[in-house]
Order: sequence, then C-alpha cells, then structure tokens
Amino acid sequence: MLTITHLSAGYGKLVVLYDINLTVEPAQFVAILGPNGSGKSTLLKTIFGMTYVVGGTIRFEDRSLLGIPTEAIGQHGIAYVPQRENVFTTMTVRENLLLALRKLPRHEADPLLQKAFALFPILEERQAQRAGRMSGGERQMLAIAIGWLAQPRLMLLDEPSAGLSPRMVSEVFRTLQTLAQSGITLIVVEQNARSLLRWCDYAYILREGQIAFQGATAEILADEETVKGYLGVVTRGRHGERATSREGDKE
Ligand SMILES: Nc1ncnc2c1ncn2[C@@H]1O[C@H](COP(=O)(O)OP(=O)(O)OP(=O)(O)O)[C@@H](O)[C@H]1O
Ligand SMILES: [Mg+2]
Repeated sequence: MLTITHLSAGYGKLVVLYDINLTVEPAQFVAILGPNGSGKSTLLKTIFGMTYVVGGTIRFEDRSLLGIPTEAIGQHGIAYVPQRENVFTTMTVRENLLLALRKLPRHEADPLLQKAFALFPILEERQAQRAGRMSGGERQMLAIAIGWLAQPRLMLLDEPSAGLSPRMVSEVFRTLQTLAQSGITLIVVEQNARSLLRWCDYAYILREGQIAFQGATAEILADEETVKGYLGVVTRGRHGERATSREGDKE
C-alpha cells in the first residue's frame, strides 16, 4: 500500500534520512521506533510532503507522492496527526470535531460524528469541554479522532503516547488497534517502544537517519538481546498490559 525506496530527505541542505526502504501492507499497524533525533518525525513528515526529498521514491497505492503538496496528500487518503499542536485548544471538543467535518454535507457528517463517538466514547462525554482543558490522553484521543474523521486509508501518528500515564497509553494503543482492525493502515512513531510493541504488527528501528533493524513484532520480541542493543530498552516486561490474542506473542 505504501512503498518507500532509497529515500533520502531532510531540511534544506541538512540531510536527515538516508536510504530508507519501507513497505507497508493494507491494515498493517507499523511502528517507527528509535532514539531522540533519529529522524522518526522527519520520516512521517516526508511521507506527508513536508520535507525536502533528495532522492528515492514514495508510492502510495498507485501513485507517487513526491511533489504532491501536503494539502493534496490529505485528499488522497492519508491523515497526519502531529506530535504537538494537534487540536484547537480554545475550541470545545465538539467544535473541533465539527471543524474536521465542515466539508461534508449534513447527511454524511452526522453519522460519521456518531461513529467517532462510538470509537472514542470519552469525546461524547466531553463534547462541551474546551480541548485545552482535557487531560493529555483525552486530547490525544481528540487528535486521533480528528484525523480519523478525514476517513483516511493510511494514518500517520507522531508519538501519540507522549506524556500519558501507563493506563492512558494502553487505552490510546488499544484504540489504534481497533482502527487497524477496521482496515485503516497505521504508521506510528514512538519512543515508548516497550508499550507499542505490545500492539503493533511490525516495527522499523531508526538510528541516525537509517533503518537499523526491522521485523515483525513477534520476531522482535523473541530477539530481545539484539533489539535491546538498538532500542536501549527491555521489550519484555512487567509493565502494562498485552495486546489480546496477538499472533505469535510469546510473553
Ligand atoms: N524543521 C527542521 N529544520 C532543520 N532540522 C530539523 C528540523 N526538524 C528536525 N530537524 C533535525 O532532524 C533530525 C531528526 O529530527 P526528528 O524530529 O525527525 O527526530 P525524532 O526521531 O522525531 O526525535 P524525537 O524523538 O526527539 O521526536 C534532528 O537532528 C533535528 O535537529
Ligand atoms: Mg519526533
């Protein structure tokens, strides 16, 4: 569904990503992991047309994304949920959602809003609350819902768990898993590797702008020593909860 080959990209003269090769299947839940400054956000921004591409290809479904402006990429079925400033804090939850639906006629917008409330129940409860007054986790749910309302086939999420309590982290990832099970492809950037590896299908580990390691989640969890070297974390552990019935989960 998304194929990236030999991609190098960055900001002006600064090249941040080198020779990235990545393939994502429909409805796959893919993690991009790696330390600070390794280029994770830059990779998402590059898919969404927000950086300078030096070389390589990015194909989504049957078209090249190179040279397509960001606004148009949104119309081709891709939604991007940035790391920060992803909701309008002075507006209420409902106003944020309606803004995301503004281009749709009422008879399409109304059922979509109801579906969003079913997927993100906290948002229905908090409709009248200003987004800026919500907890970090609630706000993150709102940001994800706003992305989802664009009815994307591929969603790019940058650190959806940043700053959240362990319980909220699981709740956000569980919601993402539900979206993947409904057929939406997900690429999720995380520093919180240990948590995300309980939910995703496949992971790429970036290091200094290059892919240092990649594999199916089950393989990665089984190969802990190697991965520890790349991520600097223990993936198997005492914390949090596990994904339900994930194939090959060996914990
Ligand atoms: N707008 C920009 N202009 C110039 N350089 C940038 C810009 N954004 C990021 N960089 C540089 O690109 C490199 C990779 O940054 P990036 O934000 O992609 O890392 P990251 O893996 O997302 O890190 P973090 O985990 O801290 O979010 C860093 O060296 C950073 O300084
Ligand atoms: Mg980042």
